[in-house]
Amino acid sequence: MGSIESQPVAARLSRSAIFIVATLNEGEESARAVRALCGDLPALVRAVGFRDLDSGLSCVLGFGSQAWDRLFDGPRPKDLHPFREINGEHHAVSTPGDVLFHIRATRMDLCFELATQIMSRLAAALRVVDETHGFKYFDDRDLIGFVDGTENPVGEACVDAAIIGDEDAAFTGGSYVIVQKYLHDLDKWNQIPTEKQEGIIGRKKLSDIELDDAAKPPFAHNVLTTIVENGKQLEIIRDNMPFGSVGKGEFGTYFIGYARSPHRIERMLENMFIGNPPGNYDRLLDVSRAVTGSLFFVPSATFLDSVEPDEAGPPASPAQSEGAAATPAGSQRPRSDGSLGIGSLKQEGQ
Ligand code: HEM
Repeated sequence: MGSIESQPVAARLSRSAIFIVATLNEGEESARAVRALCGDLPALVRAVGFRDLDSGLSCVLGFGSQAWDRLFDGPRPKDLHPFREINGEHHAVSTPGDVLFHIRATRMDLCFELATQIMSRLAAALRVVDETHGFKYFDDRDLIGFVDGTENPVGEACVDAAIIGDEDAAFTGGSYVIVQKYLHDLDKWNQIPTEKQEGIIGRKKLSDIELDDAAKPPFAHNVLTTIVENGKQLEIIRDNMPFGSVGKGEFGTYFIGYARSPHRIERMLENMFIGNPPGNYDRLLDVSRAVTGSLFFVPSATFLDSVEPDEAGPPASPAQSEGAAATPAGSQRPRSDGSLGIGSLKQEGQ
């Protein structure tokens, strides 16, 4: 009692991943089936993951704004809303998504087995609108040839970036996640000289070393996605994965970003798609097209565990539970393995 465990948002970046975005079918029976899975998910992950404990199998479950209201009564995560499309120099589309499963492991077979087990429970309740199987490419590069993930926060900074503290007390330990599926025009990209590509990303292609600030163009990807507020950089956790289909000529990056507030990811997107200042947009988008876009809330594992299949009513707010209240302020900090003790988590709105 007394501690809140987060979902494995900050799980180690993995070799394989399956992303499933689904819509919730009509009817209370569908909602009931999804609620019933909430508490059973850890047991499914344990059963499949036990086949290879070193595989690090994990699954994060998120809910879209409309689905939240159908599934749960009571308080709402304060920043939960549908993904807002952006019409700037380029278009960030908003596409349907009520439920997200983000499954990760070192081995695709375990990811596939877990996805199969989950969907066999929910076949009548969900309609899968996108299923993407991601893989790690050479040296953790994406298909445009750059190492992706280098500047992810680690350890304490990772938790600080992605896990809600006391700024939304009923949902401490939760997180927000935005996913977007990008398709690259690789022919066009490969015609751009390497030095120019490096300016677009803001890093050296071969060595992955960051360019000097003076050498970066104002539209470099890592300039536009660096958000500083009150002297503090607002970070997110990314676990992008390459995916594709050679026969269809499809080469993509599945973007997934977790944060304790969606605003900081939305600001990055505005900088990329509209530009900062407007017009100074991300040139990566001249060769990469966003074909999906959805936002989800990721409640804590403690919240999921307390969901009753037959009650849309609110699970006991963890922050208001007896044990949590008894935890001395500041005595525990969230750990990067996903478990989280309620303490004096820093107040932060963005
Ligand atoms: C950094 C690729 C979309 C946020 C990077 C880096 C690469 C990359 C290669 C540099 C290495 C690293 O630090 O990871 C891509 C590709 C994308 C994509 C191929 C899709 C086509 C996005 C989106 C966002 C984003 C949609 C946010 C909304 C970031 C951030 C950094 C980063 C925050 C780290 C910046 C820093 O602190 O240096 N990305 N990215 N990326 N990207 Fe992306």
